[in-house]
Amino acid sequence: MADGAAHTSCGLPYELSNFQGFYQCPNSTLVARPSSIQELKEVVAEFEHVKAVGVGHSWNREQFCAQTSPDSSVGLVTTEILPVLSFIENPMDSSEFLPEGPPESFPIQVDEENATVTVAAGVPQRMLLDYLSNYTQYGEPRGWVLPAFSWFIDQTIGGAVATATHGSSMTWGSLSSQLTQLKLVIANGTELTLTPESHPHLWKAAAVSIGRLGVITEVTLRIVPQKAVVKEVDTIDIGNFTAAMLEVEAAYNAAVAANDEEAIREALFAIDETQLFWFLPADSLWRVDYSYEDKEPENVIPNIDPTVNLVAPAVRAEDGPDGAVVFDQAPLEPLGPNLAMATGTDNWNRFYTIALRGYVIPGTYSARQAYLSQTEFTTASATFAPYDQYEVAIPISRAGSCLREVSETIYGPDALWEGFRTPALIRFISAEEFYLAPTNGEPHMYINLEDYISKSSGQNNSEFQTVISLFREKCGARLHWGKAGWPEHAACFDGAKEYPQSWCDYGCAVRELDPTGKFDPISSVWQWNATRDGKAVEDFGACCTPEGFSDACTCAHRTDCAGIA
Ligand SMILES: Cc1cc2nc3c(=O)[nH]c(=O)nc-3n(C[C@H](O)[C@H](O)[C@H](O)COP(=O)(O)OP(=O)(O)OC[C@H]3O[C@@H](n4cnc5c(N)ncnc54)[C@H](O)[C@@H]3O)c2cc1C
Ligand SMILES: *[C@@H]1O[C@H](CO)[C@@H](O)[C@H](O)[C@H]1NC(C)=O
Ligand SMILES: *[C@@H]1O[C@H](CO)[C@@H](O)[C@H](O)[C@H]1NC(C)=O
Ligand SMILES: *[C@@H]1O[C@H](CO)[C@@H](O)[C@H](O)[C@H]1NC(C)=O
Ligand SMILES: *[C@@H]1O[C@H](CO)[C@@H](O)[C@H](O)[C@H]1NC(C)=O
Ligand SMILES: *[C@@H]1O[C@H](CO)[C@@H](O)[C@H](O)[C@H]1NC(C)=O
Ligand SMILES: *[C@@H]1O[C@H](CO)[C@@H](O)[C@H](O)[C@H]1NC(C)=O
Ligand SMILES: *[C@@H]1O[C@H](CO)[C@@H](O)[C@H](O)[C@H]1NC(C)=O
Repeated sequence: MADGAAHTSCGLPYELSNFQGFYQCPNSTLVARPSSIQELKEVVAEFEHVKAVGVGHSWNREQFCAQTSPDSSVGLVTTEILPVLSFIENPMDSSEFLPEGPPESFPIQVDEENATVTVAAGVPQRMLLDYLSNYTQYGEPRGWVLPAFSWFIDQTIGGAVATATHGSSMTWGSLSSQLTQLKLVIANGTELTLTPESHPHLWKAAAVSIGRLGVITEVTLRIVPQKAVVKEVDTIDIGNFTAAMLEVEAAYNAAVAANDEEAIREALFAIDETQLFWFLPADSLWRVDYSYEDKEPENVIPNIDPTVNLVAPAVRAEDGPDGAVVFDQAPLEPLGPNLAMATGTDNWNRFYTIALRGYVIPGTYSARQAYLSQTEFTTASATFAPYDQYEVAIPISRAGSCLREVSETIYGPDALWEGFRTPALIRFISAEEFYLAPTNGEPHMYINLEDYISKSSGQNNSEFQTVISLFREKCGARLHWGKAGWPEHAACFDGAKEYPQSWCDYGCAVRELDPTGKFDPISSVWQWNATRDGKAVEDFGACCTPEGFSDACTCAHRTDCAGIA
């Protein structure tokens, strides 16, 4: 059993809530802090409702809070497995392990020959990136890097892949696409090892699972040697950017219609790795593009067949007796308002223009430095003002038309730009085969939008909310699973409508791995029904095969909330 002292000595705060203290889980939900994989399996087997949590940076309480039941509902923390916790508390450099490399128990294992890294799920992405870039003493003097990583890197790597966390890449996709293997503790307490080859169907479910299949304990990701990357920056307005995206949209649609794989790659290459900060009040965008020696359109994923406190944990726990694994939650005050946020659109625009300028200085950098990711300083400023972060994913086949229509309204008489303080962040991700990837089916343009006003003003930021609704209604945008917007903007989420090619495949994976609904959270989205020959199928499982949802059945729309938008 765990050494309780080891748990309390770390002095990190514990509460099942997001990082600013909002969206707490129901009080009856306990906090499990296993210190070994064996303990983790025991907790999973023992409790009726279980939810893995990383560091709670997902603004989506409905997905990270387990269903309640007296004494049998837990949020399970992945950052306290002892080798992970000791690495978080005392970061180590690979030079300390010369000449053989780290011991087997070390939570990051680099395989230079195969160009992969195997990481315990609770390791923060930032610590992984820094460890890789300093891994210069063995076979690769340049060190290593994840080929495409996210802006925010202080989440756990397990939490990141669970929600398809992404940067901007038409070649490497989200972090989930960079996985080659993962380990998952399922409802009966056993650990499955999945690869795309060993379990083609379950892989497509598990690589973006939102915690619904079990607890990811370990991931193996591709890595590439560090290299020199040239960063270029252009200042444009939304008209220019819309025009550019209309061109991409037209070229992409024509290439898909012609079934011309090379032309699809060319169309998408125009936005490969592109990222933009969109300062809405000023109608000004910084467009950031990257180049390097072997950057070629042929590497882009074409999607030829569209049918197919820096490491503050999520949870705050009361002290328990020595040896305890499961604790009560401890209360945590949400972050107070920043009253200045309520007014001063122009001043805030200037403020963030200056604050972010350092991220877009053109030049040649190592890959780790070149691609946009938050500095530790920016992450720490999470205490500056309370906010909600939303992200919408818009199909490339309508990305330009979408921007044209929505920006007309944003800059029209209603002046919706007044609802914004920080710039939006626009990125691009290739099509992904994962059942629940927002990019399932075709490449997408992601737009990250932050509401800094409502939590400080105490009032609905209706301009901001209208913009999110416009992206949902006019552009068919899907919501990021690890961000805000649920359930307000998906009040009666109909998986068969939003994920028409894959929703019931995911349902079949859940039936297979979690038949009793142990990992069902408080969200109502996880429902699957089917019809066969026009008639409702009594037992959904009858439509499931070892390869997924049967062709003989049709994935049914939700009927339990007719009349709700
Ligand atoms: C400031 C900020 C910026 C962000 N920027 C980006 C960005 O650039 N790109 C992007 O795509 N996202 C971004 N995000 C979103 C973030 O990457 C996701 O919300 C991520 O899931 C948070 O990870 P976490 O470890 O905090 O997980 P949590 O919030 O604790 O959990 C998120 C979900 O994943 C599940 N989960 C967590 N760990 C596991 C596990 N080990 N096994 C199974 N399921 C698990 C949980 O059950 C839950 O459903 C940002 C978040 C913040 C706070
Ligand atoms: C949880 O408990 C705290 C006090 O510890 C209380 O203020 C709060 O209202 C409770 N929340 C719920 C949802 O019961
Ligand atoms: C590379 O990966 C393969 C299979 O994934 C594995 O069998 C092999 O042992 C790995 N190579 C090394 C050096 O570990
Ligand atoms: C190398 O490790 C140090 C800490 O040991 C860290 O501060 C630094 O960021 C790392 N280097 C790079 C390039 O990430
Ligand atoms: C656990 O569940 C998996 C998936 O259904 C199954 O393959 C395995 O045999 C089960 N193991 C035990 C010990 O029940
Ligand atoms: C933006 O568009 C305007 C015309 O609307 C054009 O004059 C200008 O050159 C464009 N700027 C860029 C950077 O493309
Ligand atoms: C907030 O404003 C939006 C847009 O006007 C509206 O649709 C929504 O219902 C409002 N929400 C609340 C909680 O008042
Ligand atoms: C699925 O069908 C059952 C009846 O067979 C019904 O009670 C339930 O509400 C349906 N669920 C959805 C999401 O439509």
